[in-house]
Amino acid sequence: MSMPVESHFSGHPATEKYARHVNPTLMRLLNVLGYGRVFVRAQGVWLWDHAGRRYLDALAGFGSVNIGHNHPRLTARLKSFLQEDALQFSHISPSPAAGDLAEALTSTLPPPLEICLYSNSGSEAVEAAMKLARAATKRAGFIYMDGGYHGTGWGSLSVMSNPRFRKPLEPLLPGCMAAPFGNLDRLESELKKESIAAVLLEPIQAEGGVVLAPPQYLRQVKKLCEKFGALMILDEVQTGMGRTGSLFAFEAEGVIPDILVLGKGLSGGIAPLAVTVTSPTTYRKAYGTMDRFDLHSSTFGGNAFSCTAGLETLRIVQEECLPRASAREGQILLEGLRQRLANHPLVQEVRGRGLLIGIQLGLTEQVRLHQAAPALVSFLSRKIVGQWIALQLLEKGIICQPAAHRWDVLKIEPPLTIQPQEIPQLIQGIGDVFEDCRSLTKVVMAAGRRISRQTVLRP
Ligand SMILES: Cc1ncc(COP(=O)(O)O)c(C=O)c1O
Repeated sequence: MSMPVESHFSGHPATEKYARHVNPTLMRLLNVLGYGRVFVRAQGVWLWDHAGRRYLDALAGFGSVNIGHNHPRLTARLKSFLQEDALQFSHISPSPAAGDLAEALTSTLPPPLEICLYSNSGSEAVEAAMKLARAATKRAGFIYMDGGYHGTGWGSLSVMSNPRFRKPLEPLLPGCMAAPFGNLDRLESELKKESIAAVLLEPIQAEGGVVLAPPQYLRQVKKLCEKFGALMILDEVQTGMGRTGSLFAFEAEGVIPDILVLGKGLSGGIAPLAVTVTSPTTYRKAYGTMDRFDLHSSTFGGNAFSCTAGLETLRIVQEECLPRASAREGQILLEGLRQRLANHPLVQEVRGRGLLIGIQLGLTEQVRLHQAAPALVSFLSRKIVGQWIALQLLEKGIICQPAAHRWDVLKIEPPLTIQPQEIPQLIQGIGDVFEDCRSLTKVVMAAGRRISRQTVLRP
C-alpha cells in the first residue's frame, strides 16, 4: 500500500482555487506537511485521489458518513426525489418530508423525546438546544465540559473550553461555566453557584480525544440536573446514528436527556441536516405561544431534500443493522489494535466504543525517563507525533486524523459499513506505520526533514 511522497502539492486545478479563494491557511498547512492529494471520488469505505490511488477511510467525514460514502440506496432515493418536483421548503404550510422524518426518528427514541427542531449543522442544533433551554427555564447559565466539542458558531464556541478555538473570538456568551468531564462533585458545586438553564455534554467526548464517561456518570448528571432544575442537553452529533454500537450512545447509559442533539451521520453524509429533539413540555414552555412560533427557524432547516436523505439513511441504518455491526466490528478492531500496539513506546492506550476508537499517544514511563528535556519531549509528543503518524497513514493508504482538541489522540472511525475482511487490513496498515515510528527522535527528525524539504519545494 506504500506510495511515493509528492514533491509539492498535486498541481490539481482545485488546489490553486482553494488556496486563493477558500482556505489559504489550510492549504499552507497541507503544503508544509506534503499532503499532496486531492480526493475526487468516494464509495463505501474507500476514497480515490486525483492520481487514482485508493484509500481506506477511517475518518468518515469526522463521523458523518456512517452508512459509507454514496450509499447506492441513498443516492438512488435522492435521484428519484429530484424527479418529483417537490417543494423544498414552504414555511407557510407543513412540510411532508420534515414530518415523515420526525415521526420515524422519534419512534426510535424513548418518550418524551417527540419534537424535532431542524437545522443545518451540529453547531446550529447545539445553539437551538441552548436557546430552547433558556426559553424553557427562563435561566441564563450553561455548564459545559472541559474537552467537549460542540461546533464553531458563537454560541457553541461559548461552551467549548479549548483556548485555540475560543481566544481569537472572545468575549463569548456570558454565563457559560466549564466543569471537568466525569467529575460529579465539581458539577454539583457549579450547579449550586448560579441559576443554570442546562448542562451540556457529549456521552463520549469524540474531538476531546475519545474520552468515555465513567460508569453511571450520565445518570448521575441527569439526577443533579433534576435536583437543581436544569435541563440535560446531550450532544450526540458524532456519537449518534449507530457510531458507538447502539443507535444512540445514551441507550447504553440508562438515561434519557431532556434535549438530544443530532447531526453529521443523520443524513448519510450527503445533505446538511441536524436536529434538536425535545419533549412537548419543554417545547411548550419555550415556544408554546403564538408569538414564539418562529423563535427557532432557518430558511433551509428541515428542507425536503435533507429530510428525505435523513429518512432513507435512518432506514438503511436500521435495516442493515449498522449499530450491531458497529458494536461487533468495533470490538474486533479495538482488540486487534490493542494487541498490535501493545508495548509500543509511543502508545499509552487504545480505547473506545463501537467504531469510535482513539489511540492515545504519549511517551511511556520507560522512554520518558531517558529523555533529557522532558517538557520539550512532552510538547513534541503532544503536537507532532499524531500529525506525523496521520500523514504516514495517508501515504500508506489509510485516512484518519488526530482529535480536534487532542492532537495526541488518533481517532479511528470508519464508516459502519466496513466489512469484516477490511478490519484486519486496517489493523495491519496502522500497525505497520506505528512499527516505523517507534522512536520519538526519529519521528521528530523525519517530520523536520519533511517540513524543510516542503518549504524549499513550495511552488
Ligand atoms: C459532538 C459534536 N457536536 C457538534 C459538532 C459541530 O457540528 P458541525 O460541524 O456540523 O457544526 C461536532 C463536530 O465535529 C461534534 O463532534
